[in-house]
Amino acid sequence: MKNNLPEILPIRIYGDRVLRHIAEPVAEITPELQEFIADLVHTMYETDGVGLAATQVGRSLRIIAVDAFWFKENGKKDTVVLINPEFIEFDGSSELEEGCLSLPDIYEKVPRAEWVKIRGLNEIGEQVEYEGGGLFARALQHEYDHLDGVLFIDKTSKLKKMMLKKKLNDLQSTTDENGVNIGKQKHHYHGEL
Ligand code: NI
Repeated sequence: MKNNLPEILPIRIYGDRVLRHIAEPVAEITPELQEFIADLVHTMYETDGVGLAATQVGRSLRIIAVDAFWFKENGKKDTVVLINPEFIEFDGSSELEEGCLSLPDIYEKVPRAEWVKIRGLNEIGEQVEYEGGGLFARALQHEYDHLDGVLFIDKTSKLKKMMLKKKLNDLQSTTDENGVNIGKQKHHYHGEL
């Protein structure tokens, strides 16, 4: 039964079908959806993540949460929630190592735009816009990709993908007959997206 306290939702791991779906736009922000968003944000912080997409907790909807710097700033929270996000501008490029809550223990360099401007709706349906560079821009791009069924390993070289084959097969092996994969062990996360 729901008691209005946010819950930690199980993170879907590589191999889970939902991670490859193109998420649906949100048509209406209902109280139930707002509770889900509170759970999504809570789950991001509780797993020490710096970003989380709704698809990563098994809900194929265009919603992302990002807080790129909270654990470098003594836990000071500055949560960005975007519903139906759209990029308006990109600038520059950079390559940096990324990790993903859905791909435990895998870290690879990924090319991204260095700076972005993005807009969408917040959890109460207001139109919001954010711009920024560095890890904030990277996190937004990584989470947005999740909404299109794209994982950061898709953006690495063929050779890297070959080298990751065994790790990926291991992660995938816990997927059940319904295409759901919540993994087999509790992972230790630190700053994944
Ligand atoms: Ni991710």
